[in-house]
Amino acid sequence: MGWQQYASKILIDEQTLQKRVAELGAEISRDYAGKNLLLVCVLKGGVVFLTDLMRQITVPHRIDFMAISSYGTGARESTGVVRILMDLSSDIQGQDVLIVEDIIDTGHTLEYILRLLRARGPASLKVCCLLDKSERRQANIEVDYLGFSIPDEFVFGYGLDVDELYREVPVIAVLDPRYYDQTVS
Ligand code: PRP
Repeated sequence: MGWQQYASKILIDEQTLQKRVAELGAEISRDYAGKNLLLVCVLKGGVVFLTDLMRQITVPHRIDFMAISSYGTGARESTGVVRILMDLSSDIQGQDVLIVEDIIDTGHTLEYILRLLRARGPASLKVCCLLDKSERRQANIEVDYLGFSIPDEFVFGYGLDVDELYREVPVIAVLDPRYYDQTVS
């Protein structure tokens, strides 16, 4: 039993994920040499990606967290309604801020976060996102560091939840359509 019963297939396996995260870490390490890098993790989905990514970044950096809600528990799609649940703990003025997100879908969440953080005067502001469902984009957002482009399917694992469960799954799995309108346990 476990998460496998809810998955119709594995979209990205553990080895492929880890390899891509290492590549992103190397690229970020090159680009941010000598800068004041601050990784801003968007909770909760971004947390697994952040902890793997930061261990692949070889330049000194700080981390901070913010929590935003865009889906609402039980919803299977972004509503476009963005709410700030928890703000950063420090001032980002003069910092080279890199937002770390698990997935960009409509783009409303990132659009909101970028607008909010830009107003606080960072030295630079960029986005590192593991997954991109580009077919679904509504907001005009550019991702500077992207892990994978994925099709428009409900995915979970590696930080992404199904009804707040299974974020610990080490792969990106596709939710079986049978569970689109059923709560999992
Ligand atoms: C997810 C994801 C992004 C957002 C993307 O968060 O982590 O923040 O949705 O969707 P969008 O591009 O359509 O705005 P969610 O609200 O599910 O919260 P979570 O990270 O706590 O699971």
